[in-house]
Amino acid sequence: MNDINIGLEGVVVGRTAISRVDGSRGRLGYRGHDITELMGRPFVQVAWLLLFGDLPSPRQEQQLAHFLLAHRHLNEHEQALLAALPLAIHPMLVLQSMVPVLDLSLKADLTPPVGGDDALHGLIIAARLPSLVAAWFNRQADKPWPLRCNSLDPNRAFLKSLSGREPNTLAVDVFSKTQILQMEHSYNAGTFAGRVALSTRAPIQSSIAASIGTLSGSLHGGADQAALEFAAAVGEPTAAENAVQKVLLEGGRIMGMGHREYSTVDPRATLLKPLARSLCAGDTDSQRLLQTLEAVEAASIKALQGRQKNLRANVEFYKGAVFHALGLPSHYFTAVFAMARVYGYVAHAIEFRPQARLIRPRAEYCAVEDSLGDDRARLGKL
Ligand code: COA
Repeated sequence: MNDINIGLEGVVVGRTAISRVDGSRGRLGYRGHDITELMGRPFVQVAWLLLFGDLPSPRQEQQLAHFLLAHRHLNEHEQALLAALPLAIHPMLVLQSMVPVLDLSLKADLTPPVGGDDALHGLIIAARLPSLVAAWFNRQADKPWPLRCNSLDPNRAFLKSLSGREPNTLAVDVFSKTQILQMEHSYNAGTFAGRVALSTRAPIQSSIAASIGTLSGSLHGGADQAALEFAAAVGEPTAAENAVQKVLLEGGRIMGMGHREYSTVDPRATLLKPLARSLCAGDTDSQRLLQTLEAVEAASIKALQGRQKNLRANVEFYKGAVFHALGLPSHYFTAVFAMARVYGYVAHAIEFRPQARLIRPRAEYCAVEDSLGDDRARLGKL
């Protein structure tokens, strides 16, 4: 199987005008705008740009903000479905279960320049995800839910629905920038899974559910939870070097390090680090966690360089420090990531649907022992 590219590294499977990942220069842009510039803009403005290709007029931006607000709250059936789920379920599994059964009826007007029902239904799902996450968060914490917030800014509303308190300006600003940084990333695994679903003519809610399920894995979005939990277990910056060595000696990976596309730096990680610093500054616990993350990054770079691997922190690495400082438990990180990335999924549905062709690759038939790959060696040892 060695001659078959199972991970599709470097294989070009389509074209997109939504985002450009320039892996060798460590740059990322949405619709021709560098993310460094975009993260200073309002979240809803960037969402429109991503979905429809141009920055919105003030009227379009207002219309989208009102549309998202009108579709934000869970209806009684959705609340009953959530209440029927076992309490221990991971938030990502809750999102993956709930997205296909959301009520997609229209409650406000929006004239999407392109995309028709995919745009409208996708945006209704995008509007509802923060409410699902906040409701689950409050249910697991045994707090009253759903908490309603009618702010036109979806990020402010989300933060308020977690705590019931008005979030401060710095928290909203850093959270909004973090969410903009992770809205879209070309043909990442989650987006690609969604495209496969769309290629069969499945509805957008099935495509987004497939994307969310794929995002949850620890080699993809789930690395945010794993990276922060590793740093929390390490505990102190001085313990980082030994902890990193131990993982590598045991053949493990340092979560939040390395990227398939970026051979230099992940620009999102570079931008997130100062954001995390600004938010953690006022809190001793968050500061120690951030310093431990910085020590883990430095120890990982050094240890991996010793193994001739030039790996740097990716977007998942410092995001955890931001989310932790905002009061989110680590098992909610990936679900909050999904709240932003869903706009990318919808943009890809709008772009891909008109040109979709069934994605159906081919496998080479082989003997059972040849299909086992690396497991063959392990099974041979049993
Ligand atoms: N820690 C330790 N070693 C790592 C590593 C990490 N985070 N990432 C890659 N490597 C090593 C692999 O063990 C492999 O070593 P080998 O050649 O000696 O077998 C080599 O680097 C190449 O790894 P590979 O998995 O083939 O590269 P990839 O392009 O498929 O990896 C990732 C991309 C993201 C899957 C990988 O870097 C990774 O697992 N990172 C941790 C998970 C993560 O942060 N995911 C979020 C990405 S945004």
